[in-house]
Amino acid sequence: MAFVVGVPGYWLAKEVANLSGYYFINSQEKEFPDGELYIRVTEPDKIHDNDGLIVSTFYPSQDKMFLKTLLLVNAVKNSGAKKVSALIPYLAYSRQDKAFMPGEPISSCVIVESLKAVGVDVLVTVDVHSPRVLECFKGNSINVIVSDILIRRAMSSLENPVVIAPDRGAIERVSFAANAYGLEYDYLIKQRDRITGEVTYTPKELSVKKRDIIMVDDIISTGGTIAESAKILLRNGARRIIVVATHGLLVGNALERLESAGVQKVILADTLGMRHVHFLVDYVNITQRIVDELKRALNY
Ligand code: R5P
Repeated sequence: MAFVVGVPGYWLAKEVANLSGYYFINSQEKEFPDGELYIRVTEPDKIHDNDGLIVSTFYPSQDKMFLKTLLLVNAVKNSGAKKVSALIPYLAYSRQDKAFMPGEPISSCVIVESLKAVGVDVLVTVDVHSPRVLECFKGNSINVIVSDILIRRAMSSLENPVVIAPDRGAIERVSFAANAYGLEYDYLIKQRDRITGEVTYTPKELSVKKRDIIMVDDIISTGGTIAESAKILLRNGARRIIVVATHGLLVGNALERLESAGVQKVILADTLGMRHVHFLVDYVNITQRIVDELKRALNY
């Protein structure tokens, strides 16, 4: 019988087990006095000769979670697992998906190649930052798209909204979901004044005057991108702005920034190992969508 095991304490593994019918296996961890990590699966006999799924999260504590995941995959392989898939909804380091300047690493490749090296056969993630990240993984990969679910939630409180991506790179994410509901969409053009350094954003084609807006992004970290875009849209006459994002890291004062930029709601997918409790934030559970994709693609 296929099994599922999560990094210790991560709620998603149990939820996936409940919805998929895979056998749930506990894991335990400790930290040695010098800071080194130890991890163990509790029922190795249930792993032996079976296919299975590792469930992990790379936020918060990206680096530690990455190492724990590698150790867990190795523990499962040592216990005799056959095919091993890894479900990591948020792949940290994805934004460094190329060397932007000479001398830089391609961090996202380091992450996915390491997963492959320890024995991950299939990598499953959610709304990956760019297709480049998964191209580095020399195995099968699944990118679960959830922007349609998030947009559907936002639509329930808006009138004939227009969907806006903060940049051209996000247009695929936006067009897929907007087309699913017959909504208009556009992206913002970012321009930097070469003398003052000031950055401005303008919608490429559509007028946003008196329109409700759904802004869509994959990651909100400091909130800077969305806050600046929201201010411009409101200055251009937009009525209300709801933001949907897949991975809401929301570091530091990101939420205050978004609030003072005029954002009315931030709808997030539940992809991290933590949740923000704040009046602006709503979470959407995406586990059923993930399990549907797993069942379709994994055959176990
Ligand atoms: C960038 O390419 C990403 O898609 C996000 O737009 C970015 O990570 C958001 O970061 P922040 O919230 O710090 O502006």
